[in-house]
Amino acid sequence: MDLLKLNCHTGNFLYFKSFRIKYGSRRFLPQKFLGMKICCIGAGYVGGPTMAMIADKCEDIQVTVVDLNAERVDGWNSDDLPVFEPGLTEIVLRRRGKNLFFTTAVEDGIREADVIFISVNTPTKTSGVGAGKAADLRYVESCARQIAEVGGGDKIVVEKSTVPVRTAHSVQEILSSAENGHSYQVISNPEFLAEGTAMKDLEKPDRVLVGGTVTPEGRAAVDVIASIYAQWVPQERIIKTNLWSSELSKLTANAFLAQRVSSINSISALCEATGADVDEVSHAIGADSRIGPKFLKSSVGFGGSCFQKDILNLTYLCEHFGLPEIAEYWTKVVEMNDLQKKRFVTRMIDAMFNTVSEKKIAVLGYAFKKDTNDVRESPAIDVCRYLLDETAELRVYDPKVEPETILSTLGTKEGEDSVSICKDPYEACEGSHAIAVLTEWDEFNDLDFAKIHAQMKQPAFLFDGRNVLDLKALEEIGFRTYGIGKG
Ligand code: NAD
Ligand code: UGA
Repeated sequence: MDLLKLNCHTGNFLYFKSFRIKYGSRRFLPQKFLGMKICCIGAGYVGGPTMAMIADKCEDIQVTVVDLNAERVDGWNSDDLPVFEPGLTEIVLRRRGKNLFFTTAVEDGIREADVIFISVNTPTKTSGVGAGKAADLRYVESCARQIAEVGGGDKIVVEKSTVPVRTAHSVQEILSSAENGHSYQVISNPEFLAEGTAMKDLEKPDRVLVGGTVTPEGRAAVDVIASIYAQWVPQERIIKTNLWSSELSKLTANAFLAQRVSSINSISALCEATGADVDEVSHAIGADSRIGPKFLKSSVGFGGSCFQKDILNLTYLCEHFGLPEIAEYWTKVVEMNDLQKKRFVTRMIDAMFNTVSEKKIAVLGYAFKKDTNDVRESPAIDVCRYLLDETAELRVYDPKVEPETILSTLGTKEGEDSVSICKDPYEACEGSHAIAVLTEWDEFNDLDFAKIHAQMKQPAFLFDGRNVLDLKALEEIGFRTYGIGKG
């Protein structure tokens, strides 16, 4: 295929012209990227790790990550990165200052780039039409407007953020109405990384999804983006679709994953009532190859910035398109998650003689899952709030979450109210009536529970919200233990 023809609308890629390349073929020579410049708007949990991986795998591409948040950018330029992900620091240190840059110079980044990834936040709207459900697209829109305003040549604009179906249409409209003489191709390339395993997920993704318009220019742009990933992702794992399928697949994937967690959590309630063990049930059903073993770990509830937000967004879309029953179906996944967090606290209160008032509770783990410092929608937030409503005293420990983050999510300050942040689990547990394990950090398995038990108020209770501890062994030490879905 003559790439020059493909580049009628992506004229900056002049370096393509001397190559006759089968798009997506792994026979691509890295030199073909010589001179290509990528700008990623948004240096968050997705923008930072994703661009670091592209920079590491494609050394000939110059990758600039821009953000309005100067503190975040400073963090990316320091030794103490703003995002904790195993393996991330090594890659950033390897590429930073060579072909990976972090800056607040948003306009310069946009102007110089051939390809622009929009990787900004798309939170749930908190006011106005669709409040509490619809995605707030103001940041995506402001990126589109800024790209149109800045100009600087023809560009491929990639939606990396998770967005409602047909957002690309709005982005394209904004870009097309810019009278700057440049043309733009909008591509959907949703990100499927999970926090805590982001670098592994980026290095060996189950799939990369690239959607574009079904026109020669659209297909060419899809091929350009796919060719970047083809540097390290096997061809058969790169899926090309139309724009709307790509946008909807992202929301659907998160909805299905969250649904599995809510499904097994619903069964955990029945296990507690009947004496069945939810881990045994998960193992038994997961052995069926049609069901599969992943995402069947019952817990205190799913958290993270996306599951709830994306399902709510999906339900809003369904309502918008006149499908209220479908919206109701997916709403139940979120309701089940809320119920799971409440059930956890109710069980604690029941077990502790119907009151936790003025009792000290050691909260072990605050992040929404292990190996991340992210607390967005962490179940620990709701669990702690419910306990505070019951006038319990909380002693919180998390190995990666900053104390200020914990305090601000609980609307309190150190020394005020009933929350104190502890430097290690032993300090948190000393003198406590109960322990609540809310994040599955590996280090909790290595604690000296006999020592902890001896320093707690008796009887000492332990509530394992992640089913990670050996409850039998803890009972032998003397704890009264409660696991999720353990009767
Ligand atoms: P984030 O909040 O960590 O980062 C977004 C960044 O964008 C912020 O630093 C913010 O300052 C910046 N920003 C916003 N508007 C800007 C603008 N106009 N110009 C420059 N910078 C701007 O968000 P995130 O977790 O990285 O998520 C980004 C998107 O990716 C969301 O749509 C999310 O749903 C999706 N996603 C997230 C994950 C995840 O694991 N966090 C995984 C897959 C997809
Ligand atoms: C999730 C998806 O897994 C990613 O594919 C997606 O890209 C991302 O959302 C996103 O769009 O933001 P993430 O939220 O980072 O990733 O982490 P997960 O591993 O999916 O865990 C989400 C929550 O579910 C966590 O609180 C976790 O503890 C919980 N969970 C997960 C369970 O309770 N049980 C399980 O079996 C699995």
